[in-house]
Amino acid sequence: MVAQKTFKIKELTPADLQAVLEIEYRCFPDPYPLSLLEQLYSSYPRGFIGAELEGRLVGYLIFTMRWGGIGHILSLAVDPPYQRRGIGSALVRKALEDLKADGARTVRLEARKSNIGARMFYLTLGFKEERELPHYYEDGETAVLMWYTYPNT
Ligand SMILES: CC(C)(COP(=O)(O)OP(=O)(O)OC[C@H]1O[C@@H](n2cnc3c(N)ncnc32)[C@H](O)[C@@H]1OP(=O)(O)O)[C@@H](O)C(=O)NCCC(=O)NCCS
Repeated sequence: MVAQKTFKIKELTPADLQAVLEIEYRCFPDPYPLSLLEQLYSSYPRGFIGAELEGRLVGYLIFTMRWGGIGHILSLAVDPPYQRRGIGSALVRKALEDLKADGARTVRLEARKSNIGARMFYLTLGFKEERELPHYYEDGETAVLMWYTYPNT
């Protein structure tokens, strides 16, 4: 049996933003432009985490803190050849841990209604679907608003 190479979760630096952008382009129909990534990074640098495998960025997650103890996952993607190896779950768990340390009591996110795979993924991690947000995306697609509540809060 060949051992699976293990990935490492790390905090990202501005030097990683280009690699984040490349994964965005491979995963989303409407990737964030580099200028928005830079703006988000400068307002909350610790909200940029990534998964590295053999020195290469293979996944990332961007989160921020909102008013009132609400964490917000803004973007998450794992490079397609590296999906279904537990990388997305590890990134979400790390984000939940960091957000809790920053005072979050709940965490929200939006997923495209048609993105059944991502919605299933978040359900396995304990998120619940609350309601639909019609016309949330620029192309008019509906989002599903999902929430995670920390146990014992
Ligand atoms: C959604 C995403 C981040 C998941 O990352 P990942 O590293 O592949 O996920 P994991 O390997 O940690 O998956 C954990 C579990 O979630 C569930 N899951 C993950 N992807 C799934 C899919 N496409 N369909 C159904 N269930 C899925 C499975 O139960 C999986 O466990 P298993 O592989 O043992 O069956 C990844 O598919 C991705 O980057 N997709 C494109 C971008 C995207 O949609 N981002 C989310 C925007 S809201």
